[in-house]
Amino acid sequence: MAIYELVMHSAEETMEFAVRLSEQLQPKDVIALEGDLGAGKTTFTKGLAKGLGITRAVSSPTFTIVKEYKGRLPLYHMDVYRLEDTFEDLGFDEYFEGDGVTVIEWAHLIKPQLPDELLYIHLYHHGDQERKMVLEPIGKRYEQLCKEIIEG
Ligand SMILES: Nc1ncnc2c1ncn2[C@@H]1O[C@H](COP(=O)(O)OP(=O)(O)OP(=O)(O)O)[C@@H](O)[C@H]1O
Ligand SMILES: [Mg+2]
Repeated sequence: MAIYELVMHSAEETMEFAVRLSEQLQPKDVIALEGDLGAGKTTFTKGLAKGLGITRAVSSPTFTIVKEYKGRLPLYHMDVYRLEDTFEDLGFDEYFEGDGVTVIEWAHLIKPQLPDELLYIHLYHHGDQERKMVLEPIGKRYEQLCKEIIEG
């Protein structure tokens, strides 16, 4: 199973990469974003939204766990930070199996509820403006997706 490591030199580069990824996304795709505070998870999500033609400003959901945006495909943006580790079934499947694309910040906190196949994107601080990005596709669909974006 391939893992891809990239360096993003600026927030703009991270967003541009997310725009490129967004162009290949299909309904029911799930992207799990991992990384410390300020690693760039929301910045990445803003790029996805931009690429999906979403014009509303994206910010991390503060009082809700999920925010839904309308674009070429609907985008379901989850930030599960406040849930902490939960095994309780909160009905996320409705989003994963819906008509849109799901992106989850702090996805490991709901690990037992995640689908079997998804794309993990880990972001690591790497200096002020740089981030290391590690793409870890789980399943054929996501392996193919990574190949397309990275190898063209
Ligand atoms: N290469 C880079 N990629 C992404 N963001 C970067 C990069 N360089 C600097 N930044 C900045 O780092 C910050 C990342 O904040 P962001 O809200 O996206 O992080 P987050 O992972 O969502 O944090 P939180 O855990 O608080 O939700 C932004 O201010 C962004 O401009
Ligand atoms: Mg965030």
